[in-house]
This record gives sequence, C-alpha cells and structure tokens, in this order.
Amino acid sequence: MRAVIRAVDFAVPERRMANDEFASFLDTSDEWIRSHTGIRFRHIADPSQATSDFAFEAARKALEKAGVGPERVDLILVATATPDFLGFPSVSCIIQDRLGAIHAGAMDIAAGCTGFIYGLESARSFICGGGAQTVLVVGAEVLSRIANWQDRNTCVLFGDGAGAALVQGDEADGDRGILRSSLRADGSGARLLERTMGGTRFPFPPGTTDLSGSLLKMDGRQVYNFAVKAVAEGMAAMLASAGLSIDDVRWVVPHQANARIIEAAAKRAKIPLDKFFINIQEYANTSSASIPIALSEMSAQGLLAPGDLLLTFGFGAGLTYGGNLIRW
Ligand code: ACO
Repeated sequence: MRAVIRAVDFAVPERRMANDEFASFLDTSDEWIRSHTGIRFRHIADPSQATSDFAFEAARKALEKAGVGPERVDLILVATATPDFLGFPSVSCIIQDRLGAIHAGAMDIAAGCTGFIYGLESARSFICGGGAQTVLVVGAEVLSRIANWQDRNTCVLFGDGAGAALVQGDEADGDRGILRSSLRADGSGARLLERTMGGTRFPFPPGTTDLSGSLLKMDGRQVYNFAVKAVAEGMAAMLASAGLSIDDVRWVVPHQANARIIEAAAKRAKIPLDKFFINIQEYANTSSASIPIALSEMSAQGLLAPGDLLLTFGFGAGLTYGGNLIRW
C-alpha cells in the first residue's frame, strides 16, 4: 500500500500587503525586508476571518480537484500554530463540519512550521497501517493575529493562508507516493519561539498582564542558526538513509521562512539553488501552510511531472524539523 497525493490546493486572504506599508508605522524599509528575507508581500486576513476559514477553503478546493466527495474522507489533520480557539475546539473539527465530512475523524497537529510535514507522514502511517484510506492534510495559519505589530524584528516576516493535500491509499503497481519521512525535534530550543502568556505555564490574568505577552516572540538569530544547520544536515541525512543522491531529486520544496536561510542551507549542503522552489516573495512565512501553498503553485505552474522526486524540508517552533520524500 502506498500513500499518494491526489490533489493540492490553497487559499490566501485577498488583502496583499507590500513591505512599504510597514515603513509608515515602523523603523524599517522595503529594502531592508527584501535584502534580509526575500519577502516583498504577504496576504493578511480580514478581522472577520479566522484560520478555519482558509483551512476550509483550501480543503474544499483540494477535494474538488481530486474529485473526491467529503463523505469519503476518513481523517482530517490540520497543522496549525494559530487555531481559531486556544486548545479546543480544534480547527480540524470545525472544517469537518463545514465540509460535511461525516465519516471523518479530526485532530490538529502542533508542530510549528514543520506541521504539514508531520501531517503528511501521519497520513502515510495511517494509510499504510490500515487505519484510513483517504486523509485530508491541511496546513493553515493566521499569524497576523498573533504577530506583535510594534516589533520590526518579527511582524514583517509572517503572512496568512492555508494549503491542503488529499492523500489516498493506492495498491496499484508503481512507486508514486510519500516514500519516507524524517520527523525530528529539539525541545531544548523550545523558548526561542514562543507565545509566553495564556497557557497553563503562564496564565493570563485579565487586566493585570501586558497584552504583548500573548504575542509571538522569537530569537531570530538563534532560530536562523538552528534552521540552516537543521535543513542542510537533515536533507543530507534523509537522502543518505534512502540511498539517494541530490541528483535523483527534481525539486526541493523548503519551508519558506527566509530566502537567506534557504540559500545558506543550499550552500552548506552543496545543492544547486535552482533545485529549490521559492515563493516567499509573495506570501512571506505562512508557517505550516508554506509547503502546501508551494506545492499548489508548483502544480498549477506545471512544474510537477509524474515520477518527479520531491524533497520537502522544514523547521519551526518546538523546535521541530523534518522532511518528506515524495514520488509525484
Ligand atoms: N527593519 C529594519 N531593521 C531591522 C528589522 C526590520 N524589519 N528587523 C531587525 N532589524 C535590525 C535589528 O534591530 C538589528 O539592528 P541592530 O544591529 O541595531 O540591533 C539589525 O537589523 C540586524 O539584526 P539581525 O537579527 O542580526 O538581522 P538578521 O540579518 O539576522 O535578520 C531575521 C533577522 C530576518 C529575523 C533572521 O534572523 C531570521 O530570518 N531568523 C529566522 C527566523 C525564522 O525563520 N523564523 C521562523 C521560525 S518558524 C515558526 O515556527 C514560526
């Protein structure tokens, strides 16, 4: 049994915010943001929209593209760091209802920006273990809602959106599908990227806590160093354990956090940069949504041919990191 991606699609907010807008209220510039990150635009949710709105739209489109009815879905996995509600109910349950996926189980995955990679491997394991036949894997975020808009070190980096993949079991001959994955974590860096207040460790007593305590905080330099090492060494280890070389890979689809991280990791791993698909210029860092949005754009642009070998790789809060090897 193999777990094959039947369709991918995505949804982003209509509002497209250029770097220049930040310069009107922060000490920053289009030039700084572009040269340090590769970002030019990000899409920002309307105040009336929440993460499940984009998750639902991406999932609905992926189902439609695959020609699969919602009642055939066995499991919905939504990777998100910005759920509609703190802890519960899950985004996956909200979209299970909206989709009419009446036979599906539903759960969220909290693995930071690596969440979609964890989701694809979970789908593969459920399918190959016999626990499910059809799995919707979604990465969805509204990071603009938890960004600190007074902090130029972080708020310029993030965007909103969702991407979804419909994964199904396939017993026919061939080698298409999610071949293998690497799921890793380094919790010693847990506090490099956090929302300090509002959980059970540091509750949020109303009226007495500075609101910024519930917003995203990051030690950017430390995360940068971790990311370059994790991506470069992680990709090499995955290829070695699969007995493959980078020449076998048609596309590396990295988490889109910073174009400079991708360039530095490519250099360190001695992989030509033109093997990497990069669309951070349009969407910024959409966390768990960045890889499925990238796959959707690649598919729409005709960049993915049957038989192509893809290597996804990501890193993020947790800290987590990992990748999937996929035969398209
Ligand atoms: N505009 C202008 N100046 C800025 C801005 C900005 N938007 N942001 C930072 N600076 C300044 C800093 O204040 C600093 O000034 P100083 O020297 O006077 O103190 C200077 O630029 C250099 O700061 P650095 O932190 O050294 O800048 P760097 O080149 O490292 O870039 C960045 C910062 C972009 C945050 C980088 O470190 C990075 O990309 N880190 C990784 C972030 C990341 O990938 N996060 C995603 C994690 S995934 C998840 O789960 C959400």
